[in-house]
Order: sequence, then structure tokens, then C-alpha cells
Amino acid sequence: MAKTLKIALDGPSGSGKSTIAKKLSKELDILYLDTGAMYRATALKALKLNVDTFDEKGVSSFINDLNLEIKYENGSQQTYLDGENVSDKIREPQVSMAASNISSLKCVRLKMVEMQRKIASSTSCVLDGRDIGSYVLPDADYKFYITASVEVRAQRRFKELTEKGFNVDFEKLKQEIEQRDYNDSHRDFAPLVKAEDAIFIDTSNMDIDGVTNAVMSYIKK
Ligand code: DC
Repeated sequence: MAKTLKIALDGPSGSGKSTIAKKLSKELDILYLDTGAMYRATALKALKLNVDTFDEKGVSSFINDLNLEIKYENGSQQTYLDGENVSDKIREPQVSMAASNISSLKCVRLKMVEMQRKIASSTSCVLDGRDIGSYVLPDADYKFYITASVEVRAQRRFKELTEKGFNVDFEKLKQEIEQRDYNDSHRDFAPLVKAEDAIFIDTSNMDIDGVTNAVMSYIKK
């Protein structure tokens, strides 16, 4: 089998990694997997079933039969839950916090990681998430840790959500991002962490093209 290219992009929410991952996947003509969407869909399932997103017993009762599918339609990832396209629904603010909570459960992470490794196994791809370089694909060819200050990340998320028509309070949004940062980096199993061999990029004062060019310059080397 031909050698495949694997790229891991990790970092906290709002760091711009999904935008960069999409650009890389286009430029390099490789698959893009947004792993956060998978945790978000799992959280949506729990919300629908009225299962507490911290309740490992409750979540483990549905996780193995979770009907979650990742499809690629017109070149973009679509997330299906129980046959329904939930790609927009999973972006709603209450799903964001629920996803951060549910992602701390080991039964959820084991299931998601198994699916992610399977999708990534036979194809060149770029995955974005929290634990891609440190846990999901420790042998990735390139690993990047993309971050930005909380203020800048909150501003980006605020813009994105208001453009989508959500009514959001900036201070509340910033607090939620801080809370998610804390949750994501303090969970016991596969937390958000910079892999030792990941390249660190602070995007606070960079635009998307600047970051993409910086990342591409490493890949072309
Ligand atoms: O990237 P995102 O904001 O869409 O991710 C939503 C949540 O999912 C995030 O708060 C933490 C969790 N997540 C994770 O734990 N591991 C990943 N690889 C991706 C996301």
C-alpha cells in the first residue's frame, strides 16, 4: 500500500484549527476529519435521551450502539446521528459544553478513538481535535499544537455564532471557553495536551492565511 500522510492538529476551542485543517485538506487533497463533531454528536444523543453527560453508567448504556456516521458530501464532512444530518445542530452553544463534559468519559473516548483510527487507517488525512498527536495518531507525520489567547478565541467564536444568527453574550461565551479549556485539559484520560513532538503555533496575532502558510511551510520541508 502507498504511504499515507497523517497530520494531527490539536488545540483548544476557537484556536482556528478547524479552518486550518479544512484549508490543508484542500491544498493537499487529503481527507479532513473534524473529531470534535463526533463528541458533539454523542453529547446531542445524551441530551436527547435526557442522560446526564457526566453519568458514565447512563452514557455507557447507549455508547456501543450509537448510530453515528461521518459522511463526505460535496467535499465536506457531514455528521449523521440516527440517520439525521445533525451537522448544524451540534454547533449550538449548549451542545458545546455538553460535548466537553461527555468527552471526559473513558467509554466515550474509547469508542470515538476506535472510529477515528478506523477512518484514518487507510487514507491520507488531517485530523483536528485535542488528543490526536498525543493519543489517537501518535505516529502522525506532522503534529501541530494551535492555540491563541482566550480573549482572541472568544472574539472569533462570538463572530462565528452571531453570523449564524445565535444571540450570544460575549462575557458568558468567554467564561464557557475558559471552562471548556479547563475540562478538556484536566480530564484523566487522554486530555488536551501538546504532544512533545508537536510544533507550537500561537495564532493570537495571525490571520488564517498566515497560519496556513506557516503550517504548510513545515509540511513542504
Ligand atoms: O473541537 P470542538 O470544540 O468541536 O470539540 C468539542 C468538544 O469535544 C471539546 O470541548 C472537547 C471534545 N473533544 C475531545 O475531547 N477530543 C477531541 N479529539 C475533539 C474534541
